[in-house]
Amino acid sequence: MNAAITAVGGYVPDFVLTNKMLEGMVETNDEWIVSRTGIKERRILKEKGLGTSFMAINAAKDLIQKSNLDPSEIDLVIVATATPDMQAASTAAYTAAQIGAINAFTFDLDAACSSFLFGMSVASSYIESGRYKKVLLIGADKNSSMINYEDRATCIIFGDGAGAVLFEPNEEGYGVQDELLRSDGSGREYLLVKYGGSAFPIEPIHLANKEQFVYQDGKNVFKHAVFNMADVSEKILERNHLSKEDISWLAPHQANKRIIDATASRIGLEDDKVMMNIQKFGNTTSATLPLLLYDYESQLKKGDKIIFAAFGGGFNWGALYLTWAYNPSA
Ligand code: UT7
Repeated sequence: MNAAITAVGGYVPDFVLTNKMLEGMVETNDEWIVSRTGIKERRILKEKGLGTSFMAINAAKDLIQKSNLDPSEIDLVIVATATPDMQAASTAAYTAAQIGAINAFTFDLDAACSSFLFGMSVASSYIESGRYKKVLLIGADKNSSMINYEDRATCIIFGDGAGAVLFEPNEEGYGVQDELLRSDGSGREYLLVKYGGSAFPIEPIHLANKEQFVYQDGKNVFKHAVFNMADVSEKILERNHLSKEDISWLAPHQANKRIIDATASRIGLEDDKVMMNIQKFGNTTSATLPLLLYDYESQLKKGDKIIFAAFGGGFNWGALYLTWAYNPSA
């Protein structure tokens, strides 16, 4: 029994933060941002009081509406996120209640930028075990909630958004085929929000120093991302005896176009096989992979071989090989 993706949904907030706008906020320029990252604009959830769940709910509703899914049939809702609405109260439980998934159990899953990739592993394992029939996996992040818009090293990169996929059993062999997932905790100092968690609860001094926000040593993360994303992508091809001609699509985490290009070039893929939306959404953390599927769904055909790859804070990274289970609707 395989676990296949059978439906996709997505949501991004309306507000567009352009490179031009950032030029008025920090010392940067459009040319630098585009040439170093590939990002032209990103979406920001501006309205006060709305968190990650707002986008997760909208992405899930989009999926439910497009696929005529009865939400009461969903067995499990996983929200992959690094920016839950609140501590302790799970974002997934609230999301499930709002979409009418009244018979589902729920939990949040956080592996920073690899949250959705690791979520694919978890969701598909529940299906493969035969225990559940419908698992809704949502990747959603409101990165703007942890960004210092005076820090040019981070504010140009991140955006907000959400994407959702439904996993169901597939008896024709389509769906998740293999995965290679890794973590290395020695990387945590290079990308983190140090204050506000259980180790260092926020104190007035941290707020005064703006230390409640994301810190990233971009160069170091970049170096590890380029090496590791390419490495696992190459290995998963090798061990499944896949040549570059066999691959229909690479769906890479959208952190930096140069990291994406390096991964594609290591496995010899041309640009037209590489899914990309970093130019319009930036790095949406847990939402990059499902938003790629949301954008490219109409081009995907039954049997397409897709390699997903991600790298992020922790460090956590990996690659997953999946075959697509349905043709675009007419
Ligand atoms: O998704 C989670 C994982 N995250 C990632 O994978 C992100 C990985 N890292 C990156 O994508 C890149 O390292 C960044 C986009 C964050 C930065 O690009 P970079 O090419 O590594 O730049 P850099 O930090 O080495 O900085 C190069 C120069 C520096 O100036 P000097 O020292 O050479 O004079 C920076 O001060 O560019 C300067 N700089 C900027 N200039 C204009 C740094 N940020 C900016 C900026 N605008 N926003």
